[in-house]
Amino acid sequence: MRGSILTSSFIAISIALCGSAHAWNEGGGEQDEALHLTPDLENGMDVYEVCSACHLPEGWGTEEGTFPQLAGQHKEVMIKQLADIRALNRDNPTMYPFALPESIGDAQALADVVAYIEKLPMTPENGKGEWAEGTPEFENGKKLYVDNCVKCHGDDGMGSREKFYPRINGQHYNYMVRQFEWIRDGKRRNANPEMVEQIKRFTDADMKQVINYTSRIPVPKDQVAPSVDWMNPDFE
Ligand code: HEC
Ligand code: HEC
Repeated sequence: MRGSILTSSFIAISIALCGSAHAWNEGGGEQDEALHLTPDLENGMDVYEVCSACHLPEGWGTEEGTFPQLAGQHKEVMIKQLADIRALNRDNPTMYPFALPESIGDAQALADVVAYIEKLPMTPENGKGEWAEGTPEFENGKKLYVDNCVKCHGDDGMGSREKFYPRINGQHYNYMVRQFEWIRDGKRRNANPEMVEQIKRFTDADMKQVINYTSRIPVPKDQVAPSVDWMNPDFE
């Protein structure tokens, strides 16, 4: 009798634990800690030095999309992504060693570096898809965006910091196509299950057209650097 109660509670607890291990954005630990700390921007700049090797001193990443633009991204979103990468819940073998606490520090370092990055002005020339406004592919992408993406990423592509939805305006086309495909095909493990559901019937052509549109959503002028030649004075 006693044994079976113990067994059944053990099973119940195991199920609860397994369930939560796969829940999207369960937060906790380092993520919650970093979200509640007061950032130190000076230290954030020091931490960012190691990141700048790939994401560039301006935080613009690369137009061909190997490295995403980080400048202007919501700090809450970046904290979640960094915590996920550290916890091996989002694969990023290139960056992983540089993102570890041994390399950059604890939750305070996360809070500091993302607060620094979020304030950087964005590139005026993000990588874009091939179809200009007015082409049938652009128009189809726009329609797909309105029908499938606006409810989370917003009609301006700004996402939501409160809900951890990334801003995707101004992001590089090739980077977004790669992420979108990984999210659709289950390769990006921290993906949002509602987004996966929303896009599961997207063909590769739909995907390219909707991301083409996304890559062409204008970024608010006051968040963009004055020119492509702008250099981050903190790293000159
Ligand atoms: C060795 C190169 C490299 C270094 C150094 C590096 N990153 Fe990255 N980072 C990448 C790559 C590549 C990706 C995109 C991986 C992919 O395609 O999934 C990425 C992705 C990210 C993302 C996710 C962006 C998004 O839109 O979801 C964040 C946030 C990030 N990096 C922050 C940092 C920070 C902060 C540092 C410094 C502590 C850093 N990175 C150092 C290569 C690097
Ligand atoms: C239910 C809400 C939801 C819907 C609908 C949705 N997304 Fe997302 N999207 C998210 C969330 C949340 C993430 C980040 C997941 C995570 O936590 O890692 C994301 C991530 C992304 C990324 C990767 C961003 C990055 O910086 O790495 C792209 C690109 C993207 N979405 C494009 C789209 C497009 C295009 C559509 C419509 C076809 C769409 N999403 C529909 C919630 C949504």
